[in-house]
Formats: sequence, structure tokens, C-alpha cells
Amino acid sequence: MEQPIFLQFLLGVLACFSILCANAEDAYRYYTWSVTYGTRAPLGDYQRVILINNQFPGPPIEAVTNENIIVNVINQLDEPFLITWHGVKQRKTSWQDGVLGTNCPIPPNSNWTYKFQLKDQVGTYMYYPSTSMHRAIGGFGALNINQRSVISIPYPAFAGDFTLLVGDWYKAGDKALVEKLNSGLSLPLPDGLLINGLHRSSSFTGEKGKTYKFRITNVGISTSINFRIQGHKLILVEVEGSHSLQEAYESLDIHPGQSVAVLVTLSGAIKDYYIVASTRFTQPILTTTGILRYQGSNTPASLPLPIAPTYHVHWSMKQARTIRLNLTANAARPNPQGSFHYGSIKIVRTLVLANAKENINGKLRYTVNGISYVDPTTPLKLADWFNIPGVFTLNNIKDFPTSRPPAMGVSVFGLSLHDFIEIIFQNTEPTIQSWHLDGTSFYVVGYGSGKWTTDSKRRYNLADGIARHTVQVYPNSWTAVLVSLDNKGMWNLRSQIWSDRFLGKQTYLRAWSNDKSLNTETDVPPNVLRCGQALH
Ligand SMILES: *[C@@H]1O[C@H](CO)[C@@H](O)[C@H](O)[C@H]1NC(C)=O
Ligand SMILES: *[C@@H]1O[C@H](CO)[C@@H](O)[C@H](O)[C@H]1NC(C)=O
Repeated sequence: MEQPIFLQFLLGVLACFSILCANAEDAYRYYTWSVTYGTRAPLGDYQRVILINNQFPGPPIEAVTNENIIVNVINQLDEPFLITWHGVKQRKTSWQDGVLGTNCPIPPNSNWTYKFQLKDQVGTYMYYPSTSMHRAIGGFGALNINQRSVISIPYPAFAGDFTLLVGDWYKAGDKALVEKLNSGLSLPLPDGLLINGLHRSSSFTGEKGKTYKFRITNVGISTSINFRIQGHKLILVEVEGSHSLQEAYESLDIHPGQSVAVLVTLSGAIKDYYIVASTRFTQPILTTTGILRYQGSNTPASLPLPIAPTYHVHWSMKQARTIRLNLTANAARPNPQGSFHYGSIKIVRTLVLANAKENINGKLRYTVNGISYVDPTTPLKLADWFNIPGVFTLNNIKDFPTSRPPAMGVSVFGLSLHDFIEIIFQNTEPTIQSWHLDGTSFYVVGYGSGKWTTDSKRRYNLADGIARHTVQVYPNSWTAVLVSLDNKGMWNLRSQIWSDRFLGKQTYLRAWSNDKSLNTETDVPPNVLRCGQALH
């Protein structure tokens, strides 16, 4: 990634030029969101949920590449609150990431306005609360970024677009879940699965003979799902902002925090068909259904439901390896996705991150390389900017699993802007994991069972591994990703199993450069919230 100085300078000037131009011409979308408690009965019993402008799930954001999003979030809950924009890269501006390592939470009865650009992004994303266990009761929604009209899409035109937020759901409220976790207990299996906040009543109508795009996101906090539509094939076209090889699937595994877009052609007889989501790797299996209705149908969907894959992980791992990047397709920009030859870039650092379930001071905690993360009262990003000492120590977490006793801590990896690194997620637990990185995407180069060794590299996919922001790690297995840290900032690397994250299964990557120019990072926003030692 080394470039001659003059070239870096030239690229800097060009980038700056294009950003200025983009900002001048790209549209702004303004939102004012009231976040309140409300009552809904997603699984039949009334319970407290989080509403945004009275909606559950929250209102979808439908935008176009490069648009600027301005969201004034008014917190009317009784607890501090933040929303994170899952998969939005927040180019040069981790200020807007909305996690406790980058932002002070919005106090109750006050508001804060997020401002960010959907720079060079296209695809299927979501947002959700990052504070406490709030997202267990709502506050999440879809964030869809469509192509600019001047950019072609690498798949056939479709007649319509449906968004499905699929996820597990607990009847116990967020506060009961927090209490349970704080007392040292793990969470039980969820009580059910929902599609767009409904248990068995979501329906989607299309015309026979036409093709529709289904954007599907696992918004759940604990379980992987398998998704399928009775009598219809799913043609995968997009995975978290990357255009995939357009393979046909009977069903797809989607892990917590992951999104896909598939094309479905309504080629059957005019009737209703079941849309099915069921949990993976759980005992018992939870299932929910929705309906795909052909216009003019008066025949209800009929059993049996299409069968789910078996419990075993082998099927899932095999499918995961087939999800690959279409090298000739463009993404948000016209240049082909394959023009960045990630397989030939020199790796400057390897992090082997082993997650574990531990007992610290008599309580259940989760660790990454021996450290169970605790949010400091001063966000890491503010400590960095205002030079506040004592909040964190760079590289206090080891690059490899250690045998030191597990401990609580504020772990931050110190990395340089533009470092090209390898991360191995080594799962030492008998349960499936789902890891997400903010600020950038990574190339998924390998999945394997057992313990990763340098020999495992021989089986890496160095040609067309999919670039995504969230990846699963099978029980007692490993997943390898390659990342270009091309976005300066403080980035959360976290478990999407929300109870595990709450109990410490997360860390931060600091992508740093001493260059103070706006070409590498924007200034602290004028409306920044202050807290902890950054109050004054
Ligand atoms: C809070 O909302 C008001 C408008 O209702 C707005 O003028 C103000 O900038 C917002 N505050 C922050 C910190 O974003
Ligand atoms: C890859 O993308 C191109 C568009 O650039 C498209 O024509 C082609 O069908 C795609 N190939 C596969 C296998 O998905």
C-alpha cells in the first residue's frame, strides 16, 4: 500500500476535490426522531418496546449513494441512549459512529444530531441502539442505500423491492435482561422470531412473472437464522454492500448483524407461498413465517413448510464458502470490485482473537484474548482528540491468545492508517459467534474447524472472498479476514451476540496517523456531546 509521496499528495488533493464537489451536489436527507417507550405485542403478550416516531421497527431510511443524512435523535427514554449505523463506514468521521467508544450517550430528555455521508456505499444496512440492551426491545430499522442513476447495477432490473428485518425476540424487557446478565447469568433461548416486528403476519405481494429484490437483515441479538421461500429460488446479488456472484440458493443462513439482497422471480402458480425463517444451531428450533402473495391469489399458502438444513455446521460452512465477490461487477463506483487485489497485498500484522466464556470475580464475563471490555466513562475517541491521559493504553491487549488470567479492561489495538492486517477469529466456545467491525469492510478469506495455524493460510481464498462487515465463526472453529485500515478513527470490533458484547466481548481498533489534516479525518463536530473527563 506504500505510495510515493507525490502520488499520495496528488490522491489527497483529488479525494478532497471530489468530496467537496460531492458535498456540494449530494442531497441532504433530514430526519427528526423521537425515541420513546411504547407498548406492542409482537409475540401475543403486551410488553414495553422502543419506538421511533411511534414506529416499531423504526422508520426505514431509503437513500442514495453519497447522500448526506442528518438525524436529530430526541431521547425520551429514562436512560442514556445512542444509535449506531451498522455498516455505514463513517468515512474519516468516527465521531458519528454512535457507540460508547466514540460518542457520549444522549442523556434522557435531550437530543443530539448525527450528520454523516453515505460516501461510496451502496447496499443493505440497518441501524439500532448501541447502548445497554436497548435493541432487545426495538429502536432498530432498515437503512437501504440505492445506486446513483449514473451507475449500472450488475444484475437484472427488478419490479419492486421488499425489506425484511428478521430477528429473534425476548418477551422479557431490556431491563430484565440487563438484570439477569449483571447478576452473572446467561440469557435463555429467545421466545420467538419476528419479521418486521410481526410474528406470523408479514406479507409481500408481487405479480406473477416478475422479479423482486428482497433485502433481508438478521436484526436479532442472539441467534443465526435460515431464510427460505416456499417454491422459489433465491438469487444472491448483494452482501453488506458487495455485489456477490449471483448463485441460486434454496435457503440462506444469515447470522446476527448480517444483511443480504436476493432476487426472487415469481414463476409459480398464482397463490400464496410461505416465507420461512428458522433459528440455526438451537435446540429447540424457533420458526416464523410470512407470506409471499401473488397478485390475484385467493389460495392460501399450504403446508408443509420448506425444510430447513440440518443442525450440523458443515452445511453452513460449505454454503459460506460459496458466497463470493463478483470481481467484474462495480459497487458504488464504476470501477470493478476486483480492481483491489487484496490477495497480493503484504500483511503487516496478524491478530488472532480468541473469544472465551469466563468467570471473573464470581460472575459470567466474555473475553477477547483475556480481556473483558468495559466502557470507560470518557469515550476513547474524545480521550484521543483532547489528549486526556489515563482512559486507555494502546496495545494493552495481546495480538495472540494468552494464558494470563482473564481480567476486565479497556482494550485498544494501536494500528496505523492504511495498515493491511489479518484478523483470525478463533472461537474457543461451543456456540456460533458473529463478529462485526465498524468503519470498514473486511475480505473473508477462510473458515475452518479447530484451531487456526499458519498452515491454514494455504487454504485462503485470495481471489474473490466477499467483502463484508459482519462474519460468523462456527463453534470451536476459526474465520480469517483481511482488512485494509483505510479509515482513520476509533473503530468498535464487537460480537453481534448482544449479551456477549454487553458482558465484554468487544474491543477497539485505533487506525491512526499523525497527519492532522482534514484529508485524513474531520474535526470534532461543533455539537459534540461531552462527558466523563471530556466534560471541560
Ligand atoms: C436539538 O434539537 C434542536 C431542534 O429541535 C436543534 O436546534 C439542536 O441543534 C439539537 N441539539 C443537538 C446537540 O443536536
Ligand atoms: C458479475 O457481474 C457482471 C456485471 O459486471 C454480470 O454481468 C455477471 O452476470 C455477474 N456474474 C455472476 C456470476 O454473478
